[in-house]
Amino acid sequence: MKKTVTAALFLMLSCPNIQAQNGINYDESKVGDYTLPRVLVSNSGTLITTSKQWEKLRRPEILETFSSQMYGRTPKEKIQVTYDLLDENKLDLNGKATRRQVKFTFSNGIKKIEAILLMYLPNNVKGKSPVIIGYNFKGNHSTRKDSTILYSPSLHLVKEPTHPDWERGCQSSRWSFEDMIDRGYAVATMCYHDIFPDKKGLKDHSIVSLFSDYNTNKSDEWQAIGAWAWGSSRILDYLETQKEVDTRKSVLMGHSRQGKAALWAGAQDKRFKIVISNDSGEGGAALSRRNFGETIEKVSSITPAWFAPAYSQYAKNEDKLPFDQHELIALMAPRPVYVASAEEDLWADPKGEFLSAYHAGPVYELFGLQGLGTTTMPGNHQPIMNDVGYHIRAGKHDVTAFDWKSFMNFADKHFKRSSDN
Ligand code: GCU
Repeated sequence: MKKTVTAALFLMLSCPNIQAQNGINYDESKVGDYTLPRVLVSNSGTLITTSKQWEKLRRPEILETFSSQMYGRTPKEKIQVTYDLLDENKLDLNGKATRRQVKFTFSNGIKKIEAILLMYLPNNVKGKSPVIIGYNFKGNHSTRKDSTILYSPSLHLVKEPTHPDWERGCQSSRWSFEDMIDRGYAVATMCYHDIFPDKKGLKDHSIVSLFSDYNTNKSDEWQAIGAWAWGSSRILDYLETQKEVDTRKSVLMGHSRQGKAALWAGAQDKRFKIVISNDSGEGGAALSRRNFGETIEKVSSITPAWFAPAYSQYAKNEDKLPFDQHELIALMAPRPVYVASAEEDLWADPKGEFLSAYHAGPVYELFGLQGLGTTTMPGNHQPIMNDVGYHIRAGKHDVTAFDWKSFMNFADKHFKRSSDN
């Protein structure tokens, strides 16, 4: 029985036509025509021709639409956060880095939620270092095979940290810590489950449960992605207190569901100076109207909910969306933004990710900056490094050393650092 199910699953994943029968299209010739909402025309029809008009009129409109129709509204309420330094190793990564582990305690006075930030700071940098921020998926201990890395507090809820799939160092290939340190970047990571455990029935353990409007069932109620985005800003708050870190040179990187959250965080919080989406797909960088790979119907039915309830009304109804994802990318302007895809990651629709980045270009041009400037996708491993950047690489849905190298080249270019820092 088990064998049959596995075989069927393999067939489904490897045979696009079978997926197509399940409502998922992987055939470029079947994509169909679509018309994107015009990023530079306001809701009342005003043509936006200056960066000032964009900032004053159009940007707030688009932000509001994403809040009310897709990601949900981030509460304005302040939640108390305290930080405790749990550990410091001044000679980590062969003496090249100082490692710190810091406990965050979020509290509303009645209830508390804990999270642990893992941070590496380059030892050989005089002055402040630019910083890369990003969530990990399987606990801080999964990013490096090092028995002194503490387990993330949420892990017992989602999986036993010692379970073979969650072993120490099991995701180390996704975290090029030494390369980052060698290039003079500090890096800070936290397990995303600490902020909102990504498993059905655990919402009471998420930070959203600390807010007074918890579970109001409003159509624009924030859910997991809203919470993860909020958490990234709280990491940045902490980094602003660290004298070794230059938060005016902060890079927020998110992979997959965290790529969606990174774009949403960058849209709301302009303190993130460069935003990078890696393989973020549907509900992230990819255009929703392009009928290829994952659909709104699929992504809006994942549990626990990632998006506000309002979003599901657009399932099988993409043409009714009052926005598309190029407008989310445009919300980063004039800050540099980078979108990365993987050739075999058809579920995330690499071409839809590329075109979305392309269609954000007109907003960058309002600022005298340069968008992608071409509707032709580059070949594998040929990054475009304008103010909007893009690459596609060979291989699967993942984060690789090539991705990090390109992200740092992009950041070096825009932070005006030489690449041998
Ligand atoms: C699923 C989901 C995607 C998401 C991905 C991930 O495949 O359908 O939308 O990006 O998980 O986060 O790994």
